[in-house]
Amino acid sequence: MFYPQEIISEVKSLNDIVDVVGSYVKLSSRSGNFFGLCPFHNEKTPSFSVNRDKQIFYCFGCGAGGNVISFIKKIENMDFPDALKLLAERVHFNLPQKGSGEQERQRAAAREIAAKTNKLAARFFYENLTDKDAENAKTARKYLEERGITPSLAKRFGLGLSPDAWDGLLKNFPDLPVEDFEKSGLVKKSEKNEARHYDRFRNRLMFPIIDNRNRVIGFGGRVMGDSDEAKYINSPETALFHKSECLYGLNLAKKAHEGQIIIVEGYMDVIAMHLHGFANTVGVLGTALTTSHSRLLKNAGCNTVILILDSDEAGIRAAQRAIPVLIKENLKIKILNLPDAKDPDEYLSRFGAKNFAKTLSQAQSHIAFQIDLIRKKNNLESMEGRVAFTQECAKILAALPSEIEMDAYATEISKATEISHSAIFKEIEKIRGVTSGYSPEPRTYILKKRGEDIGLKNAIKGLLNLVLSDSSAANALKKSECLSSEEIGGGIFGKLLVLAFKNTVNTPSDVFDLFDSDEEHQTIAEIFSDTKDYPSKDARQKALNDMAKKIKLSWLKSRIETERNDTNAVNSLHFQIKTINSLNISMHDG
Ligand code: CTP
Ligand code: MN
Repeated sequence: MFYPQEIISEVKSLNDIVDVVGSYVKLSSRSGNFFGLCPFHNEKTPSFSVNRDKQIFYCFGCGAGGNVISFIKKIENMDFPDALKLLAERVHFNLPQKGSGEQERQRAAAREIAAKTNKLAARFFYENLTDKDAENAKTARKYLEERGITPSLAKRFGLGLSPDAWDGLLKNFPDLPVEDFEKSGLVKKSEKNEARHYDRFRNRLMFPIIDNRNRVIGFGGRVMGDSDEAKYINSPETALFHKSECLYGLNLAKKAHEGQIIIVEGYMDVIAMHLHGFANTVGVLGTALTTSHSRLLKNAGCNTVILILDSDEAGIRAAQRAIPVLIKENLKIKILNLPDAKDPDEYLSRFGAKNFAKTLSQAQSHIAFQIDLIRKKNNLESMEGRVAFTQECAKILAALPSEIEMDAYATEISKATEISHSAIFKEIEKIRGVTSGYSPEPRTYILKKRGEDIGLKNAIKGLLNLVLSDSSAANALKKSECLSSEEIGGGIFGKLLVLAFKNTVNTPSDVFDLFDSDEEHQTIAEIFSDTKDYPSKDARQKALNDMAKKIKLSWLKSRIETERNDTNAVNSLHFQIKTINSLNISMHDG
């Protein structure tokens, strides 16, 4: 995040959440709160609430929540800086240039030039392709036709044609500085004569790559027909274009407004998917999946990803590498091995959309995918093979947040190996005791068990609400050293406790700006949407003590579970449980 909190707060204070939300959702006021139909899920009775005092929204139906910036991010499918920009523009507030250092300003200027130049080039390529008379345009249109790409589809993707000449692009824009084209990666300097420049893309079918803000950030160019040259050439890395940080077709896919996004490898695959009605498809352009990709997906409202990678060795490895990257952003993952075709484009043209949809519905969960791979590595006919298979699978199951899911897979593994269900369970428990696997949340298992306790959950939320809005409560709890961030549940709960202890947040709405993910915003909104009115300071103090004790007690009990083989540890935990009742957090001194 690069804007200082002062600026963010300023923009928020100028944009009242009730007004902003009110321009998207019809709100009516009821006992101080505003209610309306939630724009983020389908409902007939309003459970979507907006609170003017706290400047937050929260849906009691689907759990969506946040401040005015989160609202814009979610409803406009924007990232944080863009949402902030929209809100700033709404009230004619001038945001400072990013970073505002000299270097940053130069980069921003370079990006602007690249975007402008790319846009001109894209229009020029498009006109070339649609030229009625030019010979190479006829060839290009015929090539598209052969590949099943209709003119309207070509238009939707802004496809174009680069001239069949050394400097066709440059010649077309004699008044623009050559440097602009060079900075955009569209032309290269001649190696023999530095003063001469030539087009990077010559006689290629051009695929403009468009970002979330509808800027043309780069191009891919494909040779048409057979040729010795590289099949695809892409724009080089520029101030604007970073190949591993963009998803081809996301600008269109996000308009499909589906929680599920399909990831394929190539330009042609994305276009073919659109042609056959699967508009929720994006392409990774032959690179490995990165954290930037998963963030983009998240911001586009995606919760489930279906990976369709090439079914060869490289594709399988790519899928394996992609799994932890996607899990980190809490995305659900399915993996599809396309049978009888090398990529979705080929599959669709051979077998059609209906068959594709059927295959798609059979995509495996990433767990099943990984178990299959382990199965292939081990010989289940032999005892050693079955043991090794079960042990490796246990590692994967140990990281699963859902007990039901885990049980289902464990049962299947037990059937395949004839190793008892309870032995597999014990193995998993052992792994969970020592490691958290690649699960995003350490100690998920313990948390999950504790998390099933609704009373505990309410205590955690109530306590955080109290300490985040009352600094004397926060100070008292901090001084008592009764609860650590891990003990309160880790993850977002732990972070919020640390934040309360720091005593630097002013309003509920500011808390949201310090966190990125949807899940975090939901939890924070849930916490703030339920503020108790304590009649007196004593009542607040009593509540603080009760909630803190409940949380601590549950923590100690869960520790006894995990430490049960260590007698000393267990004794000490029992002792701590006994002393809990004498705990007295006082808000009156200091
Ligand atoms: N790619 C690339 N450079 C190459 C080859 C491939 O950037 N020399 C990227 C492109 O984004 C391409 C993707 O990797 O779309 C997948 O490559 P491939 O499977 O070879 O191409 P297809 O997309 O199947 O292209 P086509 O169907 O036109 O052959
Ligand atoms: Mn292909």
